[in-house]
Amino acid sequence: MTRILITGASGLLGLNLSLLETGRHVIIGVDRSKLAGTPFELIRADLLDRQAADHILDTVRPDAIIHTAANANVDACESDPQGAQRLNAELPGELAEACAKRGIRLAHISTDAVFDGTLERPYTESDTPNPLGVYARTKLAGERNVLAANPQAIVARVNFFGLSLSGTRSLSEFFFNKLSTGQQCNGFTDIYFCPLFVGDLAETLVKMLDKNLSGLYHVVGSEALSKYAFGQRIARQFGFDADLVIPRSVEESGLKARRSHNLRLSIHKLSTDLGLEIPSVSTGIEKFYTQAQQGYPQKMRSYQQI
Ligand SMILES: NC(=O)c1ccc[n+]([C@@H]2O[C@H](COP(=O)([O-])OP(=O)(O)OC[C@H]3O[C@@H](n4cnc5c(N)ncnc54)[C@H](OP(=O)(O)O)[C@@H]3O)[C@@H](O)[C@H]2O)c1
Repeated sequence: MTRILITGASGLLGLNLSLLETGRHVIIGVDRSKLAGTPFELIRADLLDRQAADHILDTVRPDAIIHTAANANVDACESDPQGAQRLNAELPGELAEACAKRGIRLAHISTDAVFDGTLERPYTESDTPNPLGVYARTKLAGERNVLAANPQAIVARVNFFGLSLSGTRSLSEFFFNKLSTGQQCNGFTDIYFCPLFVGDLAETLVKMLDKNLSGLYHVVGSEALSKYAFGQRIARQFGFDADLVIPRSVEESGLKARRSHNLRLSIHKLSTDLGLEIPSVSTGIEKFYTQAQQGYPQKMRSYQQI
């Protein structure tokens, strides 16, 4: 079994990844203070502490790291550009260098939001990014810092949905929370994306490490749809009233950061190099539904530090 260190272990991706891979691999999660009693080992650390990364790597001696920790709140990044620069741009480069020195494999998580969305086709890894806001700009700088320090690293541009510790982190939870209580909610008709179920993303990332892939990859779902259509699909899967999802333009939403209208990414390189089909959003929504029905939210919350 491989020893995998997962940063951001309390986050939407990090917690799902850690829980799913425990038992298949030895998982060590880095957490600031949100978790307790998890079935995987925990290390308490603030990764912004300058000595933290070196100390963790020398103590844990992992075979691989999946670096999910970030400021992933697009609007919060607009309010704290310096903090976002430190966490999303500088830290990944430092971690990549520390991994390169020690021969540790690294999968770094980036975002589909690096593109401005002006192309009228899915973006490939060769297309030129043009970030629209602080989050996207700092994530792009993070990608570049990682690959400059450690060309053997994987940089995965992702978009995903699923269940989180807070119950409010993902777009799927946003729609679920509104629709399950009979509330109307806005669904953007003018943002197209390729969401991947978080469990499918977790498994794909580990397969990429197992296959020793390196470099930049788009790691998203195999189907593009609007955020409005995604909300309607969640409604139908759970048997909620799909008319509660109100079609709206993101331009009338009043959100702080500018959003790209086309977040469609091509997964041709990924599926070719992995030799696998990447799951669709339809099967992902079914898995999201099954987890919600089978007590996974309660299981997650049982690991929350009180
Ligand atoms: N969610 C999406 O659809 C999406 C889309 C595209 C890309 N991404 C990328 O995917 C990755 C994971 O996103 P997510 O949605 O899982 O994020 P998330 O739920 O907001 O989790 C972020 C994690 O980072 C941790 N963290 C933040 N600052 C830290 C620090 N100084 N030291 C240690 N840990 C720290 C957080 O810990 P605390 O709990 O203690 O704050 C949390 O565990 C990110 O790189 C994000 O940019 C996400």
